[in-house]
Parts: sequence; structure tokens; C-alpha cells
Amino acid sequence: MKKYLVTGGAGFIGSNFIRYILDKYDDVFVVNLDKLTYAGNLNNLKEFENNPNHKLVVGDICDREIVSKLFMEYNFDFVVNFAAESDVDKSFCNADDFIRTNVLGTQNLLNCAKECWLNDGKWKKGVKFLQVSSDEVYGMLDLDDSQFFECTPLNPQNPYAVTKATADVMVKEYFVDYGMPVNITRCSNNFGPNQHTEKLIPLTISKCFDLAQIPIHGTGENIRDWIYVLDHCRAIDLVLTKGVAGEVYNVGAHNEKTNIFVVNEIIKYLHDNYDKKISKKLITFVQDRKVNDLRYSINFDKIKNDLGYTPSVTFEDGLKTTLDWYISNIDWLKTVK
Ligand SMILES: NC(=O)c1ccc[n+]([C@@H]2O[C@H](COP(=O)([O-])OP(=O)(O)OC[C@H]3O[C@@H](n4cnc5c(N)ncnc54)[C@H](O)[C@@H]3O)[C@@H](O)[C@H]2O)c1
Repeated sequence: MKKYLVTGGAGFIGSNFIRYILDKYDDVFVVNLDKLTYAGNLNNLKEFENNPNHKLVVGDICDREIVSKLFMEYNFDFVVNFAAESDVDKSFCNADDFIRTNVLGTQNLLNCAKECWLNDGKWKKGVKFLQVSSDEVYGMLDLDDSQFFECTPLNPQNPYAVTKATADVMVKEYFVDYGMPVNITRCSNNFGPNQHTEKLIPLTISKCFDLAQIPIHGTGENIRDWIYVLDHCRAIDLVLTKGVAGEVYNVGAHNEKTNIFVVNEIIKYLHDNYDKKISKKLITFVQDRKVNDLRYSINFDKIKNDLGYTPSVTFEDGLKTTLDWYISNIDWLKTVK
């Protein structure tokens, strides 16, 4: 029985990851530590709330007492740290919570893991601390064919990305200084079921359902590199079980799209499949962010060549699945805080 501490498992990617591993493995036990901030949603856990291999603990990753108690009780094999403040726009207004959770929370998890796993100078066998990070730590690219590689210098351009980059450096430091078996995954923009409406795709969907204006920053020409959430979950599982300790792995799916393209695709699909009144007239261009990275593009040759990862869901199929999920789960949108 492998015991996982998954943090932030009531959020978007964490809940998809827990479902993925509970479906894939019989011999896992997942403790899901989540503070249930505005981004945590108990409805994301409905499918496995009665599964004996999953236990929700409502708590803060910054809370030393709770985290070390959990380590003492369960002696985890794996930590997968999803818990974060994850909204770039919010980070411009007030970065305090971002620094607290994304930096200090990660450090608390590392400390508690070290205390439990390192005994008489030896690390417990088979353990791994996986930090779920983001391509935003690399900064931004020009409109050329450049890409982010694992060796690209960190150059974060917004407070959210600064806190993720800081946590990455700290995780790496636990490997360098103490030999802790760690990995960092840096993934591009995710989309799929359970995503909060503060993010572009669900925001557009919910505005379409309400026939309300869809705000797009600037001209909508910023490029993001999209990945369907289950491909990200598969990659994390691979890195956790096969990744070389101390290594960073980029995760992506080669789907560079402008924001306006993505919004237009959603409108087209929902017009044809949900409500004929949904049209491009709903789009409204709003003032751009203070800093809005022009383009992201992630190179994921390393995880592909070393661990055999390939994305399995095309952008088109993933978007259709996502849109169908939101159409069938309209009530879920009412539960978003
Ligand atoms: N969404 C993306 O496109 C994307 C891409 C790459 C990396 N990431 C990273 O993946 C992780 C998950 O992202 P997401 O989109 O699922 O985020 P999310 O905002 O949907 O979920 C975050 C979860 O963390 C919980 N949380 C927040 N602060 C906490 C604390 N102090 N203690 C315990 N739980 C806390 C929230 O309640 C929520 O359930 C984040 O670390 C993010 O940086 C996200």
C-alpha cells in the first residue's frame, strides 16, 4: 500500500489527480490535506468521498502541528504538493497569501517530510516529494519559435510566478543540501473538469451560459500553451514513480493558442450545442494586466525521452470533453465560491 499526502486535492488539478490514481491503483491510500479556500470545492471530491482509500483532512499546509501529526500517523511514501494560491490576477492585488501558502507552506511540508523520512542520516526507501510547479516561473517568450527548457533561467514576471519560483528553488535546495528525493514538474496551462471560473476557459463557459460579457485582457493575442488536465496527472504519476531524484521535468502538450482563438472555439461549440444566442458579440476587450506574458511554449522532450511521456488528448478533444462536462454539470458552477 503506497501512502500519499496530496495537498490542495479539493482544487482543480489535485482532485483530477486523486481520481486518476484511485482509478489506476488498488493499493494506494490518499490523505488529501486542503484548507478549502475559495478555490477548494467539496463537490470536486463527490466521486470518491466514500472511497476508503481517500481521506480528506481540512487544514493548512503552513500548520506545522497538523502536517507533522499526519506524517507521524501515516508515514507517507509520496508527497504531491498542489496546494497553492493560483490566480495571477489576485496575486497583483495582494501577494501575502501567495507568499504564505506557496513559499512558507511548501517549506513546512519539506521540513516535516525531512523529519519523518531522514533517520540516522538515511532516507526512508522509495519516498518522493513532488512539487507541482508551473511554466510561469520561466517568464515569457517572444513571438518566435523559442521554448522553455528545464535549464531556462527562472525569470518570473508576476507575484504568483515569483512565489512558485521561490518554492522551486527551495525544493531543489532540500535535494542539494540534504539529499531529499524530490522532483519538480513545470506544466503549461491546464484545462478540464472542476476548474474554477477565475480561469479563462471556465470563465468563458460560465459567461456564455449566462449570456454575459466575456472579458478578454488586451487584444487577446497572448499565447498560452494548453494541456488537458489528465495528461498532466499522468505525467505527475510518471515522475513520482520513475523520475530521477533532484530532476525538474517540463510537462506540456504542444498546444500554443491565442486567448482569442480559445474563446472563439468555446463560443462556436456552445452556440452549436447549447444555445444559439451565444455568439462573438459577447466578447468584450478589457484593460490588460499590469504585466501580461506574451507567449509561453514548453519543451517537454526530457520527460518524453527519459520517462516515456506523451500527451494523449488533443486540444480539440480535450476542449470538447471539458465543454460537455460543464454542460452536464451546470449546477457545479453554482457551487463555485
Ligand atoms: N491550473 C494550471 O493551469 C496550472 C498549471 C501549472 C501548474 N499549476 C500548479 O498546480 C497546482 C494546482 O493548481 P490548481 O489550478 O488546481 O489550483 P486551484 O486554485 O484550483 O486549487 C488549489 C487548492 O489548494 C488549496 N489550498 C490553498 N491554500 C492552501 C493551504 N494553505 N493549505 C492547504 N490547501 C490550500 C485550495 O483550497 C484549493 O483546493 C498549483 O500549485 C499551481 O501552481 C497549475
